Amino acid sequence: MKISIKSSKEIEKMRIAGRLAAEVLEIITPHVVPGVSTGALDSICHEHIINNQDAIPANVGYKGYEKTICSSLNQVICHGIPSDKKILKDGDILNIDVTVIKDGWHGDTSKMFLVGKCGPHNKRLVKVTQECLYAGINAVRPGAFIGDIGHAIQKHAENNYYSVVEDYCGHGIGTVYHEEPQVLHYGKSGSGIQLKEGMCFTIEPMINQGTKYCKTLNDGWTVETKDGRNSAQWEHTIAVTNKGYEILTKRDDEFI
Ligand code: MF3
Ligand code: CO
Ligand code: CO
Repeated sequence: MKISIKSSKEIEKMRIAGRLAAEVLEIITPHVVPGVSTGALDSICHEHIINNQDAIPANVGYKGYEKTICSSLNQVICHGIPSDKKILKDGDILNIDVTVIKDGWHGDTSKMFLVGKCGPHNKRLVKVTQECLYAGINAVRPGAFIGDIGHAIQKHAENNYYSVVEDYCGHGIGTVYHEEPQVLHYGKSGSGIQLKEGMCFTIEPMINQGTKYCKTLNDGWTVETKDGRNSAQWEHTIAVTNKGYEILTKRDDEFI
C-alpha cells in the first residue's frame, strides 16, 4: 500500500478533526484531580464529543474496544481501559488519549496529566517525554527521512537515561484511523521513506523510566512496563507542509 497524500482541502478537514480532538483534552483538564475515576473522565469526554462536537469517538468499537478514551496510569504504557473503580490519587501520572472523527476525518492526540502534587521523578519523566515529542516534530519537513523523527526522539530519551518503547509506533492517519506509514520512535537518521508535503501522521512516543519491554494484561488491552516502573506518552497528529509541519492537534497551552 502507498502512503496517501492529502490535498489542501483534505488537510482542512483534518484540521477541523484535529482541533476537536485537542479540545477534548482541554475540556477534560480541570476534571483530572485526585478522587475522580477514569470511568467518569471517559463519560465526560464521550458526552462532549457526541453532544457538543457532533462528532464520533473513534475508539468506541475499534477492534472491540468499548470506551472513548484510553486512560493510562503510572506504569501503564498505553491502552488503559477507563473504569469507575480506578480512582486517581495524589502523585499519579495519567495519559489520556482520544481520537475524534468529524466528517469522516480523524484527529488523534494524547497528553499527560500530573494528578495533584507529583514527585520530581514523575515530573521529569512527563516533561522529557513531551520534549521527545517536540524533538520528533521538529525533524518533520519535506525531504527529511522518517528515521530522522525516531532518531531525534531516541537521542533525547537516552540522553536523559530513559528508554523508548519499540512495540508501538505512530501511524499515518486520515479517513482511516491507522494507515501507512509506521512512525517509529527510535532509529537512525537518514533511514526509511522520505517525507512529502501532504502526508499526515501521528508521532506518539512512549518513554519509560526503566526497561523498554512491555507486557499486555489479561484484559487484552492494558499495556504495562515489564518492570513496573512508570511510563509517559504524548501524541500529536501532524501534516507535512511545504516548509515543515503543521500540528493539527495543537492545544492553547502549548508554546511550540
Ligand atoms: N489512540 C491510540 C493511538 O494513538 C489507539 C487507541 S486504540 C484503542 O493510535 F482501541 F485502544 F482505543
Ligand atoms: Co495514534
Ligand atoms: Co492516540
